[in-house]
Amino acid sequence: MTRRPLLIAIDGPAGAGKSATARELAVRLGLPYLDTGAMYRAVALLARRAGLGPELDGEGRRAVVGFAERLGVGFRGDPRAQRVILDGEDVTEALRAPEVSQMASVVSAIPEVRREMVRRQRELAARSGGVVEGRDIGTVVFPDATLKVFLTAEPEMRARRRFDELARRGVAASWEDVLEEQRERDRRDSTRPDSPMRPAEGAVIVDTSRLSLSEVVEAVVALLPGPPRTP
Ligand code: DC
Repeated sequence: MTRRPLLIAIDGPAGAGKSATARELAVRLGLPYLDTGAMYRAVALLARRAGLGPELDGEGRRAVVGFAERLGVGFRGDPRAQRVILDGEDVTEALRAPEVSQMASVVSAIPEVRREMVRRQRELAARSGGVVEGRDIGTVVFPDATLKVFLTAEPEMRARRRFDELARRGVAASWEDVLEEQRERDRRDSTRPDSPMRPAEGAVIVDTSRLSLSEVVEAVVALLPGPPRTP
C-alpha cells in the first residue's frame, strides 16, 4: 500500500494570515511550501510590464493567457524566507506592489490561466505533498488533501494587517484605499464564475481575528489526523 503524502490546503481571503501560517506549518512539519498566489502574481507582473491594465480586451486577454502558458516561475529558499524567481529574476518584492495585487485578482479570473496554474500546482505538490496556500486549493486543486483549512478574519482586521505590512515596506497608502482595494479584491475573488473563493467541503474554518500566529499554527496542527505532534 502506498501512503499518500501529507498535503495541507490553506485557503481564505487576503490578510487572514494564510502566508504566515502556511510558512510556519511547513517549517514545523518539514514539508515543502507552495504559495500559489505568487504564481498568479507572476502572471500579473508580466501583464503589467507589458503595459496591460485591469480592463482587458480580447487581445490583452490572449496575451495574459500566453504569459501563463510560458510562465518561468520558481521558488528558492526555506519557507520563512522563500524567494520567487521569474525567468531568472528575483521578483519577490515586485510581486507585492498594490497594482500587481489588483492585476493578480483580474488575471486569476481567466479560466485558461487558472487551468494552467492548477496543472502546475498539482505537478509541484502531488508527489511530495506540502502546505499549499491559495483560494481554490481545497475546492479545486487538492480536494482530497489531508487537511483543508479556510482561514478568515474580520475585514477591518485584515485591512489593518495589510496596511501595517505596506507601511513596514515603506509603501505609502491611505487606510481608505487599503480597505477599498481589499473589498474590491474579495468581491472579485469570491464572485468569479471559475473557482470562486469559498470554503471547501470538509474544510475547517478558523477565524484568526483574535489569535496570534502561534495560536493559529497550533490550532491547525491539532486538526491533523494521527498522534499529537509536539513542537
Ligand atoms: O494570496 P495572494 O494575495 O498572493 O493572491 C493573489 C491573487 O491571486 C488573489 O487576488 C486571488 C488569486 N489567487 C487565486 O485566484 N487562486 C489561488 N490559488 C491563489 C491566488
